[in-house]
Amino acid sequence: MTTGRFTDKVALVTGGSRGIGAAVAARLAAEGAAVAIGYRGNQAAADDLVARLRADGARAFAAQADVADPEQTKALVEAAVAEFGRLDVLASCAGIEHFGALENLTPADFDRVFAVNTRGQLFAVQHAAAHLPDGGRIVLTSSVSASRAVFGHTLYASSKAAVESMVLNLSAELGKRGITVNAIAPGGTATDMAAENAAHYQHPDLAGRLSMDEWLTSHGALGRLATPAEVAAGYAFLASGDAAYMTGRTLQLDGGFF
Ligand SMILES: NC(=O)c1ccc[n+]([C@@H]2O[C@H](COP(=O)([O-])OP(=O)(O)OC[C@H]3O[C@@H](n4cnc5c(N)ncnc54)[C@H](OP(=O)(O)O)[C@@H]3O)[C@@H](O)[C@H]2O)c1
Repeated sequence: MTTGRFTDKVALVTGGSRGIGAAVAARLAAEGAAVAIGYRGNQAAADDLVARLRADGARAFAAQADVADPEQTKALVEAAVAEFGRLDVLASCAGIEHFGALENLTPADFDRVFAVNTRGQLFAVQHAAAHLPDGGRIVLTSSVSASRAVFGHTLYASSKAAVESMVLNLSAELGKRGITVNAIAPGGTATDMAAENAAHYQHPDLAGRLSMDEWLTSHGALGRLATPAEVAAGYAFLASGDAAYMTGRTLQLDGGFF
């Protein structure tokens, strides 16, 4: 049995099957949390993670829930509470990327991206907050993209920028219960999402002329992608008692991206 900052705490991690969310689930479990892991479709990855966490002595389970459907998120929250008897932390990591030039954007693209990245996170907060005790913790996921201009990135970036305003405004409502609500804005992090999309971050006129290493060196103080574990450390901080006086803010965890 592990002990640490989350001993006797229960955390729900959406988007926990892969990438940043999987690292967050592992980090919280390593510090003592029982973790409920939500995923969209990749049951094999979620089951693998649950097996690894249980092998290390943690309490963990995974359940499918598409965060684009608030009713599925509600059922996920209720499953976590039914399994572990309480809920102390929501780490909302589920998200999808999108690149597309203005002339090609459709209302369906807008609805799909915002349904997951924006609406999905808001209703995850609503349903989690119904169960969180006083002093509970909520950590949402923005992106460095929310405050950077990148060609063809309007939908994704604005879906994440809304999340930064969301935590600011929700903090006022939840503060009277001592619940903090913050966001992490990760920079480029070595996950499936980055592998599929990183090349699009280059200006289209330069596409292919810079290697990923050259591009990272010219855009970030640390000159490399983050590991998911490095980003997960930020979620663990915001989810812990150490961040008791931080709320409504977005923590830029981007390796000095410029
Ligand atoms: N990687 C980066 O460079 C980076 C940078 C800034 C911000 N972010 C943000 O960080 C978060 C995690 O990104 P990542 O790189 O770890 O992504 P990833 O490797 O693509 O993993 C995405 C995770 O979200 C889940 N997911 C996607 N759509 C979902 C939906 N509709 N309902 C429920 N779960 C859903 C996936 O589940 P399945 O496994 O079942 O598909 C998976 O667990 C996202 O919010 C992303 O926007 C990432």
